[in-house]
Amino acid sequence: MNFYVMTLFPEMIENGMHTSITGRAIAKGLLSLETVNIRAYSETGNGRIDDYPYGGGAGMVMQAEPVCRAYEGLVEKIGSRPRLVYLTPQGRVFDQRMAEELAQEENLIFLCGHYEGIDERVLEEIATDFVSIGDYVLTGGELPAMVMMDSISRMVPGVLSNQESGQFESFQGNLLEYPQYSRPAVWRGKEVPPVLLSGHHGNVDRWRRDQSILRTLKSRPELLLEVAFDKKDRKFLRALLADEGDERLTEEQKSFLTKLLAF
Ligand code: ADE
Repeated sequence: MNFYVMTLFPEMIENGMHTSITGRAIAKGLLSLETVNIRAYSETGNGRIDDYPYGGGAGMVMQAEPVCRAYEGLVEKIGSRPRLVYLTPQGRVFDQRMAEELAQEENLIFLCGHYEGIDERVLEEIATDFVSIGDYVLTGGELPAMVMMDSISRMVPGVLSNQESGQFESFQGNLLEYPQYSRPAVWRGKEVPPVLLSGHHGNVDRWRRDQSILRTLKSRPELLLEVAFDKKDRKFLRALLADEGDERLTEEQKSFLTKLLAF
């Protein structure tokens, strides 16, 4: 996977991406990263790449020409026109599925905006994907580009070690991950759930699956609509609804569960 990032702050991208797992993958040659400083394509030669917005209003707009020139230089070098992701709060919201899909590409270009955005005309010419990382506004597209590259990198074969690839599978089967514990068995008076110390793998697996379901119900209930529940899952859900365990659900959660079980 070759990442190309068009930005006004290349050092931010380089520093972030050369750290931790992505840094190791770049060093191993599993990923490559090239940043393009848009400022180097300033028309005036003094590094200025923004101007006032037509129609007035606050802030500055990144001009079309420097962005387009930076892009043209890049595609000439790559020898093809890869998908170009423009990071914007107006885009489609990034999710795991999109990460998996983008991981199939050989080359990806990310375009990071600043100020009040980029002249729409150049976006019409070069952007293939408009992507937001969530419903909040950041000062620029660099962090969103890094968020996307990080999650796409995880899907690239070899980037995660065998041990790491089992981790962080928060969206496996549309369920959130179960809670994890490590030594000591009692920490400041708080005990690890006894089943995890039992050595009974079947019971441990069952407990983990139940906890995943419970967590998903509490934080992201809508994800449960896509989960294929088996008999034992349903038994656990019915017990929850009947207040048989220590968990107490809110009325809202109960009503959601009742509908879910009716399917
Ligand atoms: N640029 C500013 N905020 C953003 C967001 N939430 N997602 C993607 N790009 C952005």
